[in-house]
Amino acid sequence: MSERQGGNISMHGSAASHEALIRDQFSRQAELFARSPELHGDAQIRLLVEAARPRPGDAALDVACGPGTVVAAFAARVRLAAGLDATEAMLEQARALARERGLSNVEWQAGDVYRLPFADAAFDIVSCRFAIHHFQDPAAAVAEMARVCRPGGRIVLCDGVASSDPAKAAAFNAMERHRDPSTAEFRTLRFLAGLFTGAGLPPPEVVPFQVAYERERMIAQSFPVDDDRGRLRQMIDGLIAGDAMDVGSVAGGITFIYPAAVLAATRP
Ligand SMILES: C[S@@+](CC[C@H](N)C(=O)[O-])C[C@H]1O[C@@H](n2cnc3c(N)ncnc32)[C@H](O)[C@@H]1O
Repeated sequence: MSERQGGNISMHGSAASHEALIRDQFSRQAELFARSPELHGDAQIRLLVEAARPRPGDAALDVACGPGTVVAAFAARVRLAAGLDATEAMLEQARALARERGLSNVEWQAGDVYRLPFADAAFDIVSCRFAIHHFQDPAAAVAEMARVCRPGGRIVLCDGVASSDPAKAAAFNAMERHRDPSTAEFRTLRFLAGLFTGAGLPPPEVVPFQVAYERERMIAQSFPVDDDRGRLRQMIDGLIAGDAMDVGSVAGGITFIYPAAVLAATRP
């Protein structure tokens, strides 16, 4: 039984209170997050878009689309690019981006990844980037993504990856939950790949990459528990010192680097 199904209670609180945390964090983060080059650089977005193998006649859906950078990138390559998110402040950023770029083939939808308001097989591409770690029931989210993707279409996930060493993964998740209490859990690559097979999809192709944050910029953009940025700094330094992200030591210790991956498969 999943955390979500289990009477809506999980180790991180009820589904309703988790949804409230998501709205609270992402309403506050929306503007700074939308401008952060660490996650919204062209090279990073391109990794996901290429993994989707977009064709000009396709309809693409990005769930938990945040400020819409993935949707905007798809819009240049497909017939229709849609974005869905639970946080209105993020959708406002997305609409502003579409206006700024003069995009006319985009659509935005407020909604929940667990109850996508679309018909079965409505899209050729369904993607989700840097949001799986906010989902208490990622298996249910991926099943819903697979439902709205047509047979022969592409499902693409992208997220940060936790170490396969449980102690290192726990340390990373403790820092992330302090930095952003709407984090459910960063999962291992094995777990993320298992989301595909668990949803009846083939094992995914995997493209690993790394995200690098200047530590103080990361702290400045965050809204940690009790606004305790000193503790956040200590936790980040502890992760760097212990190489908890398995990226090797970094000179000076002021850059926080974490592994991430794009995973993609074709729906049978
Ligand atoms: C870290 S942001 C990532 C945004 C975007 N995918 C990107 O890569 O820039 C996570 C997003 O997930 C959204 N989100 C979290 N849980 C959600 C849910 N259950 N349904 C829809 N959106 C959700 C949040 O509102 C937020 O915009």
